[in-house]
Parts: sequence; C-alpha cells; structure tokens
Amino acid sequence: MLTRCLYASRASKPLADGVLDAIMKQSRKNNPGHGITGMLCHANDVFVQVIEGGRSEVSRLFCRIAADERHRDVEILSFEEIIERRFGNWTMGHVNLASSNAALLLRFSENAELNPFVLSAAATLALVNEIAACGSIGNRTA
Ligand SMILES: Cc1cc2nc3c(=O)[nH]c(=O)nc-3n(C[C@H](O)[C@H](O)[C@H](O)COP(=O)(O)O)c2cc1C
Repeated sequence: MLTRCLYASRASKPLADGVLDAIMKQSRKNNPGHGITGMLCHANDVFVQVIEGGRSEVSRLFCRIAADERHRDVEILSFEEIIERRFGNWTMGHVNLASSNAALLLRFSENAELNPFVLSAAATLALVNEIAACGSIGNRTA
C-alpha cells in the first residue's frame, strides 16, 4: 500500500552547505533500496519534505528523520494512503526555494516566504508539486 507523508521542520542551526549535501547523500544511498521517492524543499531554515513509498517504509524513514538533530519543530502536515506517486521520478529531489521563486511562493501563500507551518497541507503539496513540474531537479530515479 502506497503512502505519502508531508512534513515541515526548521533547521536546528543556520544551514551550512555541507548539511544539505550530507542529507542528500544519505537519501540517495538509502531511499532507492526502500522504494522511497520524494522531494525535499528548503528556503532559509525551513524544510518541507514529501516522502512516498510503502506505508511501513515511509513510517520508518519518517521516524528516523524526525529524530535527526539537524532539524527541529518537526510537524506532520499530512500522512495519507495514495493510489499513485506524484514524485516517483526522484529518489529524493532537492530544491532551494529561497527568493528566486518568489512568484511561485506568492501563488500559494500570503507572502513570498516558504512557511508551511501556516499553509494548509493541500497548498503546501500543490506548491511542491508545481516545483517538481517546472524545476530542474537532481536525483532522478531514472
Ligand atoms: C530534513 C531532512 C531530510 C532527510 N531525508 C532523508 C531521506 O529522504 N532519506 C534518508 O535516508 N535520510 C534522510 N535524512 C537523514 C536521516 O535523518 C538519517 O540521518 C539517515 O537516514 C541515516 O542514514 P545512515 O544510517 O545511512 O547514515 C534526512 C534528514 C533531514 C534533517
């Protein structure tokens, strides 16, 4: 059974480049073997991540991520059964949304800042979906 988890969090410390590189390296190493796909977006110190895959695999990965000290204020926005993946093309795509995507942020938010803590889960997912549709994003599955 396929499941999608959408959550938001805040980086524990201002994000250094190396932190994201390390997270993406771990994702690329671990996710394919567990059938996990998804997208990690960040802007300044806010993260939004979509994780898709089997329910047990998604749950296990989410618990591991939630305990990661590199971020805090981890908040589940939605956890739902799905018929099909939306992010099946990415082992874990990664997008830095800071400032350059102001128009995209404004389309789904009251201002041009990524703040998934005040957006609805539906709007946040729509935003991530749009990023995936129009961005050039690394870590494709194929
Ligand atoms: C915002 C964020 C997103 C993460 N996403 C993933 C992910 O998609 N896949 C993954 O395996 N680890 C991810 N991690 C890292 C995990 O928390 C954990 O450190 C890692 O899975 C441990 O893997 P390892 O034992 O192979 O080093 C993420 C961490 C953070 C802070």
